[in-house]
Amino acid sequence: MSAQTDRPRILVTRKLTEAAEQRLATRFDVQFNASDTPMSAEALTQAMRDFDALVPTVSDRITGEMLRTEGRRVRMIANVGVGFSNIDVATAQELGVAVSNTPDVLTDATADIALLLILASTRRAYAAEKTLRDGAWTGFSVVDGLGTSIQGKVLGIIGMGRIGQATAKRAAAGFGMEVVFYNRSDPGALSFPARRLDSIDAVMQAADVVSVHVPGGGAAPLVTAEHIAQMKPSAHLVNTARGDSIDQAALVAALQSGRIAGAGLDVFADEPHVPEALRAMDTVTLLPHVGSATQEVRTAMGLLAADNLEAFFAGRDLPCRVA
Ligand code: DGY
Repeated sequence: MSAQTDRPRILVTRKLTEAAEQRLATRFDVQFNASDTPMSAEALTQAMRDFDALVPTVSDRITGEMLRTEGRRVRMIANVGVGFSNIDVATAQELGVAVSNTPDVLTDATADIALLLILASTRRAYAAEKTLRDGAWTGFSVVDGLGTSIQGKVLGIIGMGRIGQATAKRAAAGFGMEVVFYNRSDPGALSFPARRLDSIDAVMQAADVVSVHVPGGGAAPLVTAEHIAQMKPSAHLVNTARGDSIDQAALVAALQSGRIAGAGLDVFADEPHVPEALRAMDTVTLLPHVGSATQEVRTAMGLLAADNLEAFFAGRDLPCRVA
């Protein structure tokens, strides 16, 4: 426990980059989680009573029950992440607890990882690397390990927000892909050619690669088993958004039966649990939720969380308020 000061008491639930931790330490009476392991629900509930603000991240579930804790002192939650499906934002709003996130600074890094997964899946990079690492490579072959080219193929974007647009732009401008997309509302003028389709089904049917960019946290996955069943047998599915945005069990079944050709996944329904069935398939490229994981971006996210906190305690508008 830190010494008593009149600066706001802040709990940072996971380790941040040094620059971000230093900035927070200069402005707040801050407690860091040096072990960098996820805190228990009990510890987070207790923190509601002990701190003025929390700085959680996507691995912390901040429930309505926690927010309703008797004697709650927390008035502000500065999430380190653009996604905030880990927080019961509706309850926070109802109780007048401010919530902020960290958009924009991670858009390019996450789009880069989407492209990495699109390429890895279509070029069968994991299977090829595994052959080599297993010592099973017998030398160059004209016909072994063939993937498919993405030039001229159709990329289907589900969710044309900031990261969806950055992914589509890279795919169109850098790799000659034709872009179709589904977005609930009109995203306005785009800086690359793209065709808006009127349903997820239409995108699933048209796409050679589907890339998912919708927030999770809904009562049910937006991309359902029925949607996955519409995909071409040669198609690949990439998800860098949230694991619960798609029906993971249906995806596993489609991959196992060869109903679709491959997948590239950076996010999972119940992280850090990754189904054994997924880990066993060499048609799937798996990453441990690293979409925004660069030194620069993780620092920018921490600093943006600090900006939000500073604005809140100074009585200014939050740069990125979500509740
Ligand atoms: C986010 O920001 O929501 C990512 O999932 C973690 O960086």
